[in-house]
Amino acid sequence: MLKVVIVNSKGGAGKTTLSTNIASYFANSGYKTTLIDHDTQASSTYWLKSRPEYASQIQSIYAHDRLFGVTRSWHLKPDPQTQCVVVDSPSALDLIGFKDELASANAILIPVLSSTIDVHAALDFFKEMQLKTKIQHTDQRVAIIANRIHHRSHLPLNLQPLRQLINSLGIKFIATLRDSENYLKAYEQGLGIFELEGRTIKKDIDCWCSLLTWLETRAEISKQKEHQEHR
Ligand SMILES: Nc1ncnc2c1ncn2[C@@H]1O[C@H](COP(=O)(O)OP(=O)(O)OP(=O)(O)O)[C@@H](O)[C@H]1O
Ligand SMILES: [Mg+2]
Repeated sequence: MLKVVIVNSKGGAGKTTLSTNIASYFANSGYKTTLIDHDTQASSTYWLKSRPEYASQIQSIYAHDRLFGVTRSWHLKPDPQTQCVVVDSPSALDLIGFKDELASANAILIPVLSSTIDVHAALDFFKEMQLKTKIQHTDQRVAIIANRIHHRSHLPLNLQPLRQLINSLGIKFIATLRDSENYLKAYEQGLGIFELEGRTIKKDIDCWCSLLTWLETRAEISKQKEHQEHR
């Protein structure tokens, strides 16, 4: 099973946008997919509620649902048939309480906006994560995504603070997503950008290639591991 956890304690970095689009991508690729929403704002859960019936199905788990006669760990367990779990997390994340989700992840994605403020916040977040969860920069599961990069701006200049952060931490930098209204359009319809049509979509989808290839590799690695464990 592939488990992708998206984290960054900075609000508005793109956690929900990544979560909904990754979930819809894998659901469309034939994976039985579950989206776990840990945010009390429930943005991923609202997205799933507005998902049209014709679209590929995604199981929804809202972590803050009131539980009657069910333990929390049972509530958070995806359907046994699930092949892909995507976990959306809140800003101001309690990393200690989130340790188990991170420990069981095959991929941990940190979306970061390119402004200096966001880059500094991401640096602090990563240091806190190292301290509280013992996840190191060398951890093969961790990758940074630059999000909302304006396609008209001079990219090298725009991305300089982010590149400095990545170089100083030595974390993998896996994709640069464009700032595009297609993400908002897709969210409003309960869809991912891979499910939209239109002239401008291809440019946005192209930005996902390296990220999706990496996630598919992580899925393959986890499949092989499970196979070995069952032998
Ligand atoms: N690449 C993008 N292009 C354009 N808009 C984007 C992009 N990524 C995110 N957004 C928009 O930015 C806003 C914040 O994104 P999102 O909700 O995904 O962030 P978040 O990290 O989940 O925020 P929170 O911490 O509040 O949960 C949303 O309105 C979303 O549609
Ligand atoms: Mg969110």
